[in-house]
Amino acid sequence: MNQQCSWQQVDRPCEGQAICFPVRSVIQLPDGRRIDLEEQGFLTCFQGELRAWRNHCPHAGSPLDWIPGQFYSDDGERLVCHTHGAQFHPLTGACLSGPCTRGLFPLEVQEQEGVVLVPVSVGAINTS
Ligand code: FES
Repeated sequence: MNQQCSWQQVDRPCEGQAICFPVRSVIQLPDGRRIDLEEQGFLTCFQGELRAWRNHCPHAGSPLDWIPGQFYSDDGERLVCHTHGAQFHPLTGACLSGPCTRGLFPLEVQEQEGVVLVPVSVGAINTS
């Protein structure tokens, strides 16, 4: 799934914060058609660890943040989809509660000498 073709530099979020960035993806439909999408990813910092995710809830596909850029629960311990309340582990992306049947879609992230890089695009995502 994560077959990125190039990288973009983003700011490093502060602890317990997230920043959003654009990411292109291709959805592979069961009938073989492919749809190019302009989506959003988000980069989090939790316990000093960076993680990047598609801003696409695995339950019904909505962005997780109703308030732009706000992804964390009130106590800062989980990532939350504000559509139906699914909660995810901030380091693994695993679904901890709510209607989702799988975890968040991870994206690659690199940090080299203080420069943070995330992918410009992800490979085909199979919906079947
Ligand atoms: S769309 Fe995220 S919990 Fe339903």
